[in-house]
Amino acid sequence: MTNGNGDLTRREAIRIAVAVGGSAGLSACLGLEDRSEGPTEADRTTGRPTDAEPDPEPPARQHAWHEFSPTDEHGNPVLARHHVLLLADYAGDGPVDDADRTRAADAFRELERAYGWGSDGLLFTVGYSPAYFDRYDASLHESVDLPPPEALAPFEDPALDTPDVLIHLASDQGSTVIEAEQALFGESVTANGTEMGETVDGLLERVDRRTGFIGAGLPAAHDDADGVPEGAVPEDAPLFMGFKSGFAKNQATEDAVTISDGPFAGGTTQHLSLIRTELDQWYTQDSREQRVAKMFSPTHAAEDLVEGVGENLGDSSLVEETGIADRVEDDAFEQGVVGHTQKTARARDGDGNPRILRRDFATVDGGRTGVHFLSLQASIADFVETREAMNGEDVANVGGVGTRNNNGILQYITTTRRGNYLVPPRAKRAFPEPR
Ligand code: HEM
Repeated sequence: MTNGNGDLTRREAIRIAVAVGGSAGLSACLGLEDRSEGPTEADRTTGRPTDAEPDPEPPARQHAWHEFSPTDEHGNPVLARHHVLLLADYAGDGPVDDADRTRAADAFRELERAYGWGSDGLLFTVGYSPAYFDRYDASLHESVDLPPPEALAPFEDPALDTPDVLIHLASDQGSTVIEAEQALFGESVTANGTEMGETVDGLLERVDRRTGFIGAGLPAAHDDADGVPEGAVPEDAPLFMGFKSGFAKNQATEDAVTISDGPFAGGTTQHLSLIRTELDQWYTQDSREQRVAKMFSPTHAAEDLVEGVGENLGDSSLVEETGIADRVEDDAFEQGVVGHTQKTARARDGDGNPRILRRDFATVDGGRTGVHFLSLQASIADFVETREAMNGEDVANVGGVGTRNNNGILQYITTTRRGNYLVPPRAKRAFPEPR
């Protein structure tokens, strides 16, 4: 832990409670959040005032989160602080029957009613893997591009995740993500003070549980993980590598990542990888100028475009203004280094817009720093092509750039797991049929 500062200690304790989960994690978390910002335990369990308008129906898209999240002073959507990823298998064999489908639909419905849709309540998505759809005789409708996961670079060898289901729970309250998991799986009778009439207990079996966080100050609270040099992670950094990410102009919109045709219109595809980070190397090997060059571009470094964690950038990392995406090869030759942002920006669509919507967050699962890199896109091909642009194989061995050295941030990251999912529209989020 960074220092004796009470707030960092409290945040770290909430983070640990989310990682631990279960009733022990929940009671620890409620005690901590009780004394902090945000709703108190009393507020939470009494629910909304009785004379308040009932919550409007949640949106048809499961991934419609922006409208229900705060924005920062520059208009960038702010991702919820606490995250739990639950990988689970359907307990039955063969196609899912209607009784199980109805039970799951009711359980998800109860969850969203209990907390209200929003990062001040709960946001969640339920996604289904190619392995899930294999149980049906019919193949997945051709309007959906959902291949099984695979390694996406010659220098990586990730484990390939094949659970049936991925549930992503997100909230600004640590206690909410813990309790929502418990309520959904029948380990807590109530959710936010409301009795759960249905659960997925006996329908879904968890095979993995991953946790994480994002927000100014949270990573700095973990700078003892992985031998990160004391004080290296900036106090106000929202992510471990020290820069703000997810500027509105560098993200695909929710509209753009939505599947437009076929039975899953209104849905999206989801890629989830686990990326381990070598922060010791990142912070000790390079100067700040080199880190800016590797994360953004040599132009950003030379012109000193990034102050601190990048708050000064507002809602854009200046990809168009600097023309960096067109300079990758020149920068490799002339500067001996190319940036992560400038390489990935080469994968933009014909209108010049990014093709993936990143909702990644930091983790110290297993005692090591990393990123749960979660992204949404209309097709998995959009992700794969963005990742290919990031691989920078075209500039490996050009100038001073190697396969991973000086090639953006590749030297400091290792992808250890990958999985692909379909996030159907909300009406079909319970055990969808393939066609
Ligand atoms: C540890 C892992 C990673 C870190 C710390 C990271 C960090 C960043 C940062 C700081 C930016 C610039 C700010 C912004 O535009 O939001 C950025 C941009 C971007 N990153 Fe990453 N990133 C990581 C992994 C990835 C991966 C795995 C992909 C997907 C293949 C990816 C795709 C992108 C894209 C598409 C952009 C925006 C490019 C554009 O403006 O068109 N990043 N990233």
